[in-house]
Amino acid sequence: MKILVPEYIKSITPYPPGKPMDELEREYGVRNAIKLASNENAWGSSPKAIEAIREALTNLHRYPDGSNYYLVRAIAEKFGFSPDEVMIGNGSDEIIEFLVKAFVEKGDEVITSHPSFLMYQKVVQVRGGVNRILPLKDMRHDLETIFNNITDRTRLIFLDNPNNPTATAISPGKLYTFLSNVPETVVVVLDEAYVDFMDSEMQVDAYSLIRNTKGRCGVVVLRTFSKAYGLAGIRVGYGLMDAEIASALQRVRQPFNVNKLAQVAAVAALADTAFYEKTLRGTREGIAWLRKEVEKLGCTTYPSQTNFFLIDVKGDAAALYEAMLYKGVIIRSMKPYGYSHVIRITVGTEEENHRFVGALADCLDELGYVA
Ligand SMILES: Cc1ncc(COP(=O)(O)O)c(C=O)c1O
Repeated sequence: MKILVPEYIKSITPYPPGKPMDELEREYGVRNAIKLASNENAWGSSPKAIEAIREALTNLHRYPDGSNYYLVRAIAEKFGFSPDEVMIGNGSDEIIEFLVKAFVEKGDEVITSHPSFLMYQKVVQVRGGVNRILPLKDMRHDLETIFNNITDRTRLIFLDNPNNPTATAISPGKLYTFLSNVPETVVVVLDEAYVDFMDSEMQVDAYSLIRNTKGRCGVVVLRTFSKAYGLAGIRVGYGLMDAEIASALQRVRQPFNVNKLAQVAAVAALADTAFYEKTLRGTREGIAWLRKEVEKLGCTTYPSQTNFFLIDVKGDAAALYEAMLYKGVIIRSMKPYGYSHVIRITVGTEEENHRFVGALADCLDELGYVA
């Protein structure tokens, strides 16, 4: 075999797959491990979505509806858009791919922040585009530096708002000013995966941003069913955008990109306000409690506009991550992102939160991080 893999593909680091939970439990000799590492929904999935999935199981021999007819209409109606302004993806990850496929040619530039959601840079690399990666300033997107780095080759700017992993959000006033200055040829992608958890005064008006693009850049708002709706495992997300942008994305997608179960689950979840409200309440209360308890242990915590937050553990984060695994608690070390003493945890159920705090207290003690 003499295959020729392009250099820009060879240079990509594959996404590191996590171990299945039972493998991990075997390796570390623990039982009932809990995962607070992936910003998932601690309360499961919307019961209405599960019921809808159950009903759809008898029809799996048929292809899904390639137009996502009911889901597109449910989203359009809920947020006041027209169906041709809504795009559905196999997770919002897939819409990120569509955007890069549709707008980036080899050598075109895409601006992202570091650290931010890693998927943006990866898909740009796959396309042979040029990543302009700019550091966060005080753990926030540095809009001034981003603006100063726009060139004739800039096609896309990705802003996860709130940002993953720092959980910070851009103040709406600053964002509106920034967007009014970005050139018309650029598309700014506001990735709102965690929008549901934001304080209401920090949320931006997606409708007016997308509609008022006359003489201004394009704006795409990405959302997901993976977080507040608890459907990470079935993969479904959506984008809101001008019909002209959506029309470009429609051209690069596969005909049946969203499976049947995901479509019915998302329609049901969107209408399940009881589950949604339970998630928001649990998240808010859980984060407040966790931050208080963790501070009592001598760590510093950072404010959050999401369902996760950062903790400065006052010692090496990678060693703490490893020690926590032996207690059966999976968290995320931020050392690979350049924050060597910081971990990220997702809010869990009340029971999981108690277990986390107990395990953290033991590990801090064992590692001698705080007095
Ligand atoms: C900022 C951000 N955007 C997008 C995603 C991906 O969401 P989805 O599950 O819809 O692909 C994530 C997942 O963690 C995320 O943190």
